[in-house]
Amino acid sequence: MKKLLCCIYIMVPQSHSLRETLRADSSDMGKAPELLIGNECAGKHHNSPAMEFNPVDYNNLIQTNPMSDLFSVRRFHHVEFWCSDATNTSRRFSSALGMPLVAKSDLSTGNTTHASYLLRSDQLLFLFTAPYSATISTNTPSIPTFSHTACRAFTASHGLAVRSIAIEVDDADLAYYTSLSHGAKPSSPPITLGERKNAVVLAEVQLFNDVVLRYISYKQPTIDIASMFLPGFESIKTDSSSHSIDFGIRRLDHVAGNFPELAPVINYLKFFTGFHEFAGFTAKDVGTSESGMNSMILASNNEKVIIGVNEPVYGTKRRSQIQTFLEHNEGPGIQHLALQSEDIFQTLREMKRRSVVGGFEFMPPPPPTYYRNLKNRAADVLSDEQMNACEEFGILVDRDNEGTLLQIFTKPLGDRPTIFIEIIQRIGCMISGVNMQQKPGCGGFGKGNISELFKSIEEYEKTFEAQTSDIHII
Ligand SMILES: [Fe+2]
Repeated sequence: MKKLLCCIYIMVPQSHSLRETLRADSSDMGKAPELLIGNECAGKHHNSPAMEFNPVDYNNLIQTNPMSDLFSVRRFHHVEFWCSDATNTSRRFSSALGMPLVAKSDLSTGNTTHASYLLRSDQLLFLFTAPYSATISTNTPSIPTFSHTACRAFTASHGLAVRSIAIEVDDADLAYYTSLSHGAKPSSPPITLGERKNAVVLAEVQLFNDVVLRYISYKQPTIDIASMFLPGFESIKTDSSSHSIDFGIRRLDHVAGNFPELAPVINYLKFFTGFHEFAGFTAKDVGTSESGMNSMILASNNEKVIIGVNEPVYGTKRRSQIQTFLEHNEGPGIQHLALQSEDIFQTLREMKRRSVVGGFEFMPPPPPTYYRNLKNRAADVLSDEQMNACEEFGILVDRDNEGTLLQIFTKPLGDRPTIFIEIIQRIGCMISGVNMQQKPGCGGFGKGNISELFKSIEEYEKTFEAQTSDIHII
């Protein structure tokens, strides 16, 4: 069945490049890709291998799921930020996103190596970790892969950034060694924490540069992932008022990283995970190359783990935001985290209330011209009241042939123009069964918004000297 998906991510062939590079190397099937990290690969057209992806025209995209995972993947588990001060950073996120503190490992629990705080909103878990002085470190850290040296170097280089994307797998040991045998660069071998039925195995491989993909598996998988996060973490006893904090955010929908060159990292990821192409786009899809980026999205068999990668395109009218990211982040890294809300209007109402008191700010809304056509595009799905709310909050609306996507982007979360958050709500695509579930990626990732935004920006620019360079189109 033809499926129109995604996105905010565009695949625009560069002069010489991606497609040619990949196809030229298709004879290398089965050979582990070479991953060039950091800025080493910026601007290079090296001989990346082998597992070809095909940036086909959007209208001809037939999306298939070959069920090609090399090991069993359950879901996103948590996202870990490395920072200089975990208390302050975690509290800002807690307040901005309505995510109460649910577990901690710090001096008060006997951890003299690092301070770690775990926030939760339903299935979404954010972990914030910062080092104590190495001179007082006397015990094994709760997160055994933690390193003072690496953490300090990471924060010095990137500022506030994601260190780890953790995914729950059936067997972290198997996932790690399978990944290594398929070209993954090791970060930490499997370590077993806890005993018997409470045992947890944790292992890490390199994802982007110094960002790791963390495999985590539980001897006895639990539904309540926060209550038995990791041995060494202490649950926070919550009172009734903190229980009521809920902005409607339910889970991590997808993550996206920026890399100087797309082909090597996509091949690398595909090769060691077996993840399949979830979406990819050409310039023809979008009708413009002004977005300044090419993208590809990969997904696990169950499509509950979705990872996108962007590369910059140079020479466009507007400077590529991916290029800006790579400069300010001093290399590749996680660009955004898409958080799925069950009620985006409620989520934004709460988040915007806190924007002026330390919460997150949002990107400027599209010009009014964007909303003039919304009725034509979405009146069968959204009520007049909801469409008005979209305009009020600056929400973008897109559709594929199965569902509808509502999306909005924050401004960068920290000092640098690097990482930001996307808030989304997906409408439609319910799969009947014992429990009604929504098809992953329902409504796409906002691809249609790119051309809509550019159209409306062009109209807007005809009458105003617009400050449009800040508008995210991913
Ligand atoms: Fe996204």
